Amino acid sequence: MNKALALLLLMGVFISCTKEPSQLSVASPSGTNSIDFGLSEDGTPYYLVHHGNETVIDSSSMGFDFQHQKPLKTGLSIVSSTENSVNETWEMPWGEQKEVVNHYNELVVTLEESEAPNRQFNIYFRVYDDGVGFRYEFLPQEGVDSIIIMDENTEFQLTEDYTTWWIPGDWDIYEHLYNTTKVSEIDALSKRNNTDLAATYIPENAVNTPVTMRGENGLRLSFHEANLTDYSGMTLKVDTESWLLTSELVGSDRSGYKVKRELPFKTPWRSIQIADKASELIESKLIVNLNEPNKLGDISWFEPKKYVGIWWEMHVGKSTWDYAGSQDMNTFTQDLKPTGKHGATTENTKRYIDFAAKNNIKGVLVEGWNTGWEHWIGFEDREGVFDFVTPYPDYDLDELNRYAKEKGVEIIMHHETSAAPRTYEQQLDTAFQLMKKYDMSSVKTGYVGKIIPKGEYHHGQWMVNHYRKVLETAAGYKVAINAHEPIKPTGIRRTYPNAIAREGLRGQEFNAWSADGGNPPEHLPIVAFTRMLAGPIDFTPGVFDIEIPNKEDNRVSTTLAQQLALYVVIYSPVQMACDLPENYENQPAFQFIRDVGVDWDKTHVLNGEVGDYVTIARKERKTGNWFVGGITDENAREVSINFDFLDDGVEYEAAIYKDAEGAHYENNPTAISIEEINISKGSALTVQLAEGGGFAISLIKKK
Ligand code: NOJ
Ligand code: CA
Repeated sequence: MNKALALLLLMGVFISCTKEPSQLSVASPSGTNSIDFGLSEDGTPYYLVHHGNETVIDSSSMGFDFQHQKPLKTGLSIVSSTENSVNETWEMPWGEQKEVVNHYNELVVTLEESEAPNRQFNIYFRVYDDGVGFRYEFLPQEGVDSIIIMDENTEFQLTEDYTTWWIPGDWDIYEHLYNTTKVSEIDALSKRNNTDLAATYIPENAVNTPVTMRGENGLRLSFHEANLTDYSGMTLKVDTESWLLTSELVGSDRSGYKVKRELPFKTPWRSIQIADKASELIESKLIVNLNEPNKLGDISWFEPKKYVGIWWEMHVGKSTWDYAGSQDMNTFTQDLKPTGKHGATTENTKRYIDFAAKNNIKGVLVEGWNTGWEHWIGFEDREGVFDFVTPYPDYDLDELNRYAKEKGVEIIMHHETSAAPRTYEQQLDTAFQLMKKYDMSSVKTGYVGKIIPKGEYHHGQWMVNHYRKVLETAAGYKVAINAHEPIKPTGIRRTYPNAIAREGLRGQEFNAWSADGGNPPEHLPIVAFTRMLAGPIDFTPGVFDIEIPNKEDNRVSTTLAQQLALYVVIYSPVQMACDLPENYENQPAFQFIRDVGVDWDKTHVLNGEVGDYVTIARKERKTGNWFVGGITDENAREVSINFDFLDDGVEYEAAIYKDAEGAHYENNPTAISIEEINISKGSALTVQLAEGGGFAISLIKKK
């Protein structure tokens, strides 16, 4: 037996050589989910997805439209098919858990046009117990180097008018509030003209992914994509009458097409998480499993950490990013005039470093340290504005990095690109070299505004490639990226674990300035079951001064206890304590932020319902301590916790931070009660959550 054949047999690959049946099927390891694939009479590929006895996706066709080629849709026949099974366990270098089981059955179908040019392509179906994924592979074509996709037409035929949690299919930004409606009521076009957004483009009635749904009988579905590489982001066009979703790729007015690729290539995975309980959606590792293994090897140079930063003070209007109010761009580094409100000064940064060092916080983000902020927003021409190496005169880069190091703290770099990615790309090496000089291991990037060049969108192929280029270049310098105004997470962190976190949702910042009153209490109980299924979120929790005194019309719509809970509920390997240091002074509740972990060995979702509430328990890798967080929407509720997830034979000193009696997100948000008790495996606890409330528990192993 030759080696390759032996390997194929070992992997459980069976190659069928007989005439293909007209319908093929593949089921998940335990049989709960399955996919049927076939060709209709005119040779159009279709698939169905089943969960138990239910049809989750009814007969849905697949096809592509191209520039310079006829569509790939009808007249196809099955050339061959193979099946594989994989059951492996891999380790996350950092994450919600250490070990991830990747267990699936795969069906690969090769299709060919019956007529010339007899193009061939493959479809890969992977069926897991927690959902399904499928992708296309375009094979070599004689005399054709590359193809231009004008449209991908992957259908998802729903079988019910599901309750759906959705944001519009915006080509530029994900920073929308979630809507809860039936599929038949989705109206993305009504979400246009949002004046809080520096860039927004919603061309049709489509939704962005992850989009999550619940059926009458309790089935939960979430649609997304995995491994978005050198391709355009996918939105889902909604036919409200037939409940049909169809892939709608983000386009480019500059190129006039959706995707251009050299042959051969594979598309991203189209994924559907399928669960009987909402909590299973969060526990599912489908999206990372559908990505390639770690390409970077050892990334111990990045350590998950909590951080503070010169950030919230700008958002609440106490200080500014820019040094001088207005500047002539030609003279702008010579004639800077201080406004007196600049946040990123040497003195202020030292204050944050001192605060971090005192409080078990390892990172300090500094925004507004570099020149260019006079001209970063509201201008058409933003090329060449930021240079990522020139500090303002009142920011001493050398001294601050020295000082931080001495205190055991690391400064987190900030690169706001003002959506001028070409300027950034030209300077990537210089920018990362500067970081290396100071041993800075992570940078927060930003892409506020409309993309230059005009006609490109944040979520199109051109920008997908930009974000990847930044990630890859950064990896070469041992730099980790936390991107704001990013492309959505699609599990790339598995392959590039320097993709540590990103925004890509309405973050805490909206509470400081949005014209619509900020994020309502239901926002995060929805986010946990939608955006968070895609990957880590830099939400920046930890506001203690909930009513934001110097912003009359803005406030945070949660209780203080909920702000603590977010450190456990909303996952990220970098977790900000975003409020001003002075707002944490003499606050007993701050002890939870000092104690809470950021890197986890295990995660259990104890209970939850999309849009209502959720409770998550996580075990810290380094210490073996456990932390629990629970949040609720605008409704008060009682949550019972069974501590059967704790380790055998260990006693824990528990500190319980919960809404005090009478707490309410609107009129009594900071009423918090802190209680200390002993807890061990098998203990039980009932907690009362106020309207917009929450609770956080630290369980520290007794010595
Ligand atoms: C928007 C980001 O989301 C925010 O965190 C940042 O402070 C500003 N842009 C400035 O870069
Ligand atoms: Ca933002």
